[in-house]
Amino acid sequence: MQYVSHIESSSGERFAADAPLVARPGETLEFRYHLDRIAAQMTREDFARGPASIWRYAALLPVADPARAVTLGEGWTPLIDAPVLARRCGVGALWLKDEGRNPSGTFKDRGAAVAISRYRELGVRTMMLNSSGNAGGSWSLYAARAGVTSVNLLPTDAQPSVLQQCRTTGQPTLFIDDWHQAGAMVAGACELNGWLDVRTLKEPCRLEGKKTMGLEIAEQLGWTLPDALVYPMGGGLGALAIYKAFEELRALGWVEGPLPRLIITQYAGCAPLVKAFDEGRETCETWGEIDIPPGGLKSPNPLGGPGVLELLRTTGGGAFAVTTADALAAADEMAASEGVFPAPECATTLAGLRAAQARGLIGAHSRVVLVITGSGLKSIPTFAPARFPVVRTAAEVAGAVAAARDGRSSMQRAQ
Ligand SMILES: Cc1ncc(COP(=O)(O)O)c(C=O)c1O
Repeated sequence: MQYVSHIESSSGERFAADAPLVARPGETLEFRYHLDRIAAQMTREDFARGPASIWRYAALLPVADPARAVTLGEGWTPLIDAPVLARRCGVGALWLKDEGRNPSGTFKDRGAAVAISRYRELGVRTMMLNSSGNAGGSWSLYAARAGVTSVNLLPTDAQPSVLQQCRTTGQPTLFIDDWHQAGAMVAGACELNGWLDVRTLKEPCRLEGKKTMGLEIAEQLGWTLPDALVYPMGGGLGALAIYKAFEELRALGWVEGPLPRLIITQYAGCAPLVKAFDEGRETCETWGEIDIPPGGLKSPNPLGGPGVLELLRTTGGGAFAVTTADALAAADEMAASEGVFPAPECATTLAGLRAAQARGLIGAHSRVVLVITGSGLKSIPTFAPARFPVVRTAAEVAGAVAAARDGRSSMQRAQ
């Protein structure tokens, strides 16, 4: 907290940063820092001396005692060079920010680690959130480690991987049939029971945690920014956080140049932001019937909508809807060509990159980052079943391998 100045609402009101705060309806809250003091007392190279986790950026996080943070080693995930995909897509350079390496298997751990660390410092015992799955699993692990309670409200189709993270940790977990009512249910339950409402963008700490993705991308690119960044969008929190990091680094004078063009992807079966962007609107309408696989991006009414739409406009970006079939094909392609196994919702970024190129948004020399927010291991049942031949004698093996190779190369050619 050494460098935290205050918390500011989107309407410009300032608050002291010494108590848990929940945003008023229609508003968001953000931490502000004494960036001038950081610039005077530190260099960006000082971060490299910190741990290989989000806590290397403790100066830019709202936690009073980082040495006592609730941590499972989250962050400092690899930015993996993807030369084969870069060549196939026809871009100058392509990197995959592999968030599947985080403790629970997704980027949600960054927000959980910072928020639970801070709220435990402030004496909060019980929090509640709605989550399409991954945040619920992540917050359960961190709440268990912190000795606090995180109540999870999940859709009935949440992934089995997540349900086991919730079950094994013993964190209270509930289902709701009508996902459109989940936000209101959390707000009501928190009000009735005096719990802290930690839904996406209702409180400011999750944003700070996820901001570390942007800090890492800049540091891993040698303190430069990419030309474009492709992000699989749900509530909007992750992309807003990454751009908050870029803005803070620019204000510190530690990176230069324009903000990357923001490209967002959503499943075609729940694409309120794509629709709003295509229609030139500044806010989203609530998406009606949701038809997407279990996992992330189930956000029919993204609270981050207005902020994301503004970022899309100011960075000259684009928003693309991807079918489930195209997402699954892109996941296979990413795994087969680069060895990175993404959750299907994250593979929408590869399809989105191609759609952005087709619209002329990405040049042939562009340096592009795809944010792979979670591991395919979180969503095994969504993938095509893995069926392989059974061999009974050594003599059969070579023929079976040749048949398998043929199948693989025809799949790659088809993409
Ligand atoms: C794996 C994964 N990626 C991306 C998202 C999108 O999250 P947000 O837009 O809130 O950063 C989610 C959650 O919906 C998710 O679980």
